[in-house]
Parts: sequence; C-alpha cells; structure tokens
Amino acid sequence: MKEDEKKPLLQTEDSKDNDESRTISSFDFTLSKRWISGIPYEVAFWRSYYRNRSSRETLMSWSQYGKECELDHFDVASFIESQEMENPVIVDVGCALSYMFSNRIGGKERSVIYLDPLAPYYNKILDDYSLSYPRIKFGLGETLSIHFKKNSLSLIHVRNALDHSVCPMMVIWQALICLRPGGVLYLNHKPNEAEHEAYIGFHQYNIDCQNGRFVIWNRQERIDVGHELAGYADVKGSVTDSGRIVAVITKTSNIPDDHKAVTENGVYASGMLETLITYFHSAPNVIGYQARRGAFSLGHRMMRLLPGGLIKKIKSIISGKKATM
Ligand SMILES: C[S@@+](CC[C@H](N)C(=O)[O-])C[C@H]1O[C@@H](n2cnc3c(N)ncnc32)[C@H](O)[C@@H]1O
Repeated sequence: MKEDEKKPLLQTEDSKDNDESRTISSFDFTLSKRWISGIPYEVAFWRSYYRNRSSRETLMSWSQYGKECELDHFDVASFIESQEMENPVIVDVGCALSYMFSNRIGGKERSVIYLDPLAPYYNKILDDYSLSYPRIKFGLGETLSIHFKKNSLSLIHVRNALDHSVCPMMVIWQALICLRPGGVLYLNHKPNEAEHEAYIGFHQYNIDCQNGRFVIWNRQERIDVGHELAGYADVKGSVTDSGRIVAVITKTSNIPDDHKAVTENGVYASGMLETLITYFHSAPNVIGYQARRGAFSLGHRMMRLLPGGLIKKIKSIISGKKATM
C-alpha cells in the first residue's frame, strides 16, 4: 500500500508499539525459532515417502512432472506463450519433493527452477535413492531477491508453501520484486492450514478467500493482500470446487528501490542467520531438535502404513479440532 509505507513489513508485537521498521527489531524471532523447530517434521515426512518403494510410487503417480501443466483458475500455457520469450524464467517456490508443478507447459518442455529452503535435505534424499528428478535449489521465499535478479522472472508458482513461511507478506513482496512487469505470482493453498494444524511447526499462517478477497491471517493479524499491494499488483482470489484457495497476482508496476520491501531485503536473511546461531547454541534446543528428528522419523514411517482417513482423525485429535479435509 503506497500511502501506508510506515508500517513494518515484518511485524512483531514490539515493533507495533515501537516502530523501528528499518531495523532488525522488526524481525519476528519467535516465529523464526518455531520455523526451525519445524524442520525435523518436514524432512521426516518426505523421507518417509521416498524410503519405501510403494509409497514413492504412489507419490510419483500424484506428481505432475512430465505431464502437461494445468493450474486451477489460470491458463498457464496461454500466459507463457504471451511472454514471447524463448526461455521465460519459471520458479516453483517451496517445491519440496512432490514435483506437483510440471515442467511441460503448452506442449513444450520448460526449464523450471525448483526452490526450497530444505533443498540440502531433499537433494540428499534424491541422492540416497539414486533418483534422477531435478535437484532442488536452496532458497527462502522471503529472500528471493538474493537469488534472482529484479524484474527477471515470468512466473512464480507457490503451492502449499506460503503458509509454511515465517513471513508470507515478505514472500509476496520479494516475488513481486523479482517478477517482470506483467509477470504472475500464482498461489494455490488449502484453506486455513494453521488452524487445522494447531499452529505447530511450519504452520503459522492461514490462507483464505473471504468475500472474494484473498487474505492471510493468524491469531495476531489479518492481511487483505489486494489492499496491501494496491498500485503494484492486481490480486484475483478465488476458491476451487474442491475448496482450494487460489490467488493470481499480476505485477502491474515495478517496486521502487526506496520501498521498504526492497530496503528491508537483508532484514529477513540477517534475522534468520541470528536465529540459527542462537538456536543451535542452546543445549535444550539441540536435544529437543534431535529428539523430534527421531520421533518424527519413526512417526512418519508408521503413518505411511496407516490408511489416510485414520491419519486425518489422529491429526484432528492432536489439534483438538474436527477434521474437515
Ligand atoms: C507442504 S510442502 C509443499 C510442497 C509442494 N509445493 C506441494 O504442493 O506439494 C511445504 C514446503 O514449503 C517449504 N517452505 C517452508 N518455509 C518456506 C519459505 N520461507 N520459503 C519457501 N519455502 C518454504 C518447506 O520447506 C516445504 O518443503
């Protein structure tokens, strides 16, 4: 929102009272610590799928890799054709190991950059099982402009990952900085995942479409994304027949260099580094992290043996909520 640029991008309770929006004080260390503590769950989840041949085959039957790319509520083939470029740059942010975003668009094989902060773990899994799927590039959504040039990308796809990030609004701003004018940030998510997952691990934000508006919310804040991006992007939120939340965010104007999304670029990377340095210096954190590694590794392996319906019931009991999906 152009007229409201004093508000910090990375808000904490402290920064709301004491607006030092250009300093590291606006980085949310509580959320970044929670994010780090969520790594063992995510890595164990994907390893459990890949370690067993039959669950790996099931996963690959869902994967879209090599199939014609089809996205809900967005004609991706026409969009890529309209870019009138030999090699439009396409990035799948928070791709994990599902290969749900296809590299075949409009009948042509396209070069897709698969990017995820857990890339080192995921690439190790691919190596351990000698699999030939594309390797994953390391990167966080919140630091995209460290990895890609400004105004260089045509399409950024994010599926089930924006709501896993520490600061979803920063991911969106960083995507807009990297997109060319007319480029698209395509988001496709389950509704209100943090509520369903009881705000455990990576699940700190809910994504929803309320009265036709694309919103990101948790117990502390509610962001109307179209309102925030006014002047820079056009936001079209919608709900699919199966209840998924889609947002097609088209960049309409370049983000000026003095915009806080650009000037606060280093805040997130620096905050994350500080979190890592302090987190792993604490013995309780290390012991807890390694204990969760073991527990989730065993837990996910057992989960792979259970029927899907039972897993949903267990999750709903853990989160204290009725399973809706
Ligand atoms: C549920 S998986 C989604 C995988 C895939 N996109 C899909 O739809 O099947 C969520 C992924 O988001 C990644 N993630 C978490 N925080 C992120 C961030 N800040 N930026 C980018 N990706 C992130 C996680 O590492 C994880 O691999």
